Amino acid sequence: MAELKLIGFLCNWCSYAGADMAGTARMKQPGELRIIRLPCTGRVNPLLILKAFQQGADGVLVSGCHPGDCHYNEGNYYARRRLELLSRMLPAFGIEPERFHFTWVSASEGARWADVVTQFTRKIEAMGKMSGAEQGTPPAKASCEAGVGAPDEQTGSEDAVPA
Ligand code: FES
Repeated sequence: MAELKLIGFLCNWCSYAGADMAGTARMKQPGELRIIRLPCTGRVNPLLILKAFQQGADGVLVSGCHPGDCHYNEGNYYARRRLELLSRMLPAFGIEPERFHFTWVSASEGARWADVVTQFTRKIEAMGKMSGAEQGTPPAKASCEAGVGAPDEQTGSEDAVPA
């Protein structure tokens, strides 16, 4: 089977440090996940997730600080609301919601990180790669492009970015 493409958006302060701890402690974990470090999960625009799928990701994981531990106080609460909504909308874009996972891992939870990444990778392995029909399908492609400033077809306005 061709190599899976898994993308992980991790906050710098907790989950990235947790992943680093798992790595330095040489905990066993699959290597397919490509990590993108962000200041906070509050910076994860849902369009980034759709773009990752459109660009060929087979699964996308977002991980941040536990509720109450965000270094920017409320970033993970905003992320939780946005990403919960996105998860419910994924089928409308032709993407199975199981291909997306949002979780919390602290800087001291190296073992938990290794467990999260192992379970996520195994789940996507069992599902297989996204088919070409799923990726870049007209709805997903159109919504990604609409989100980056394409004029609204009905009004001609460029304010098509969802709130
Ligand atoms: S700093 Fe980690 S989720 Fe906000």
